[in-house]
Amino acid sequence: MRVCTATACFAAQAGRHLPAVESALGVTADDDRDPDPGVSLRTVRCLGYCYGGPAALDGVTPCAGPDVADQLAGRARPQAPPIPVADATGDPVVLAGVLGDEDPWRIWAETVSRRTPEAVRSEVAASGLRGRGGAGFPVAAKWAAAGGSPDTVVIANGDEGDPGSYADRLLMEEDPARVLAGLALACFACGARRGLVLVRSEYPRALARMREAVERARADGHLGHRPHGGDAGLEIGVVAGAGSYVAGEETALIAELEGGRGCARARPPYPTDRGLWDAPTVVNNVETLAAVPWILSRGAAAYARRGTPGETGTKLVCLSERFARPGCHEVELGTPIRRIVTELGGGLRDGAELEVLQVGGPLGGFLGEADLDVPLTERDLAAHGAALGHAGLVAVDGRIEPLDVLRHVWEFAAAESCGACSPCRVGSRRGLERARSGVPPDAAHARMLRVMGEASLCAFGRRLPYAVRSLVRAYGERLRGWGG
Ligand SMILES: Cc1cc2nc3c(=O)[nH]c(=O)nc-3n(C[C@H](O)[C@H](O)[C@H](O)COP(=O)(O)O)c2cc1C
Ligand code: SF4
Ligand code: FES
Repeated sequence: MRVCTATACFAAQAGRHLPAVESALGVTADDDRDPDPGVSLRTVRCLGYCYGGPAALDGVTPCAGPDVADQLAGRARPQAPPIPVADATGDPVVLAGVLGDEDPWRIWAETVSRRTPEAVRSEVAASGLRGRGGAGFPVAAKWAAAGGSPDTVVIANGDEGDPGSYADRLLMEEDPARVLAGLALACFACGARRGLVLVRSEYPRALARMREAVERARADGHLGHRPHGGDAGLEIGVVAGAGSYVAGEETALIAELEGGRGCARARPPYPTDRGLWDAPTVVNNVETLAAVPWILSRGAAAYARRGTPGETGTKLVCLSERFARPGCHEVELGTPIRRIVTELGGGLRDGAELEVLQVGGPLGGFLGEADLDVPLTERDLAAHGAALGHAGLVAVDGRIEPLDVLRHVWEFAAAESCGACSPCRVGSRRGLERARSGVPPDAAHARMLRVMGEASLCAFGRRLPYAVRSLVRAYGERLRGWGG
């Protein structure tokens, strides 16, 4: 059994569900010496049920809700409500198939028979589409950087590790054809003949749905040898991930696909030069790819009119369990976060007051109530010490002590640091020790945060000090001195 201890599930019951599960099952989590051969209990960080947690997986059966311990112990029926979905834009892009019936493969057939890879790249460049996986890199520029070699591999990144985000799970489960068509179009734009979808192992249903969708696409003639009379063939495979947050980082993901540990490595070389098995490799997030069929069907200008002039298009935002109306909403980039929190989310459940709001997962940041007027763009969030990330919004109310939230942030960091570089490996553990001690930091701690932020190998270690400082800022007086 796998029980989620990540931020949205932590915020649901202030972390009390884990001892409840341990007591209901009579086992200790993550204890390899546990004498019961019938049950093994692992903690995991996010299962994609952040809207209805605390959540767990019993084998592949999801269980979610306040009585998750009873569900796992067989005293209540397992239940995991479907993701509530809504569009706030009036003309959904990535939800075009979840909420409508726009066939994503139609544009694929038209593209391979009538367009060139260069034309596809310039259309997507003109749309302004940037990656939705966190780094915000311009999509067409990454495609061009791979150089057009037929050895190129394009990988759909369905690792979705950010606690609080379940947008990619929604797309892979409810509209897998759109993700595949987007991947096929990306392959075409890169001159690639191989595509891969990596789905995290915590998403067993998404994995099954993606595999079925590949079979269907093949049977319908969208894949294989020269589909729709185009020049080149295309094969797409689906692979299960190995379960770690950092394995979603593109170099770690490539290492994992090659059979190694999911650890990040130094760049250059960039994956577009030397990636999977040394082939030029493009990694794109699932939500990024799901926007591509709409852009090519409706045209770059239609997409570029959406969002803001600097950051075009729409974004899926995911609201956590503490909201009165949790769920996944498609919004225009630039929508004020206050509107998302109050109008779409209905404020917090039971009339509770928002203390802090985590935006963009563990590498994003926290906003206090006074900052909620910030528009949902990378630029505006960065100016507030946060980041867009994958746009998961996790609300924390007043039932949780600020120091417990800080400790939770460091627990996540220490558990998920891949250990490949010492600033992050050592820094995350020192940060946790300090938060557990409850003694405010000294100058050495401040120096450690600085080193971690400057010298860590990947964005995990580099971003964490920012996330910690944003939490300290959001709580103001109540965490003064903890940011280093
Ligand atoms: C620690 C870490 C974890 C990441 N996890 C994910 C992930 O789960 N899914 C994802 O798409 N990108 C993730 N990324 C970003 C990827 O490295 C990469 O930028 C992204 O998949 C590229 O796709 P995009 O350009 O479409 O955004 C992660 C990055 C870091 C540093
Ligand atoms: S920063 Fe952390 S997660 Fe990234 S390579 Fe270093 S140890 Fe691994
Ligand atoms: S399911 Fe627990 S944080 Fe996402």
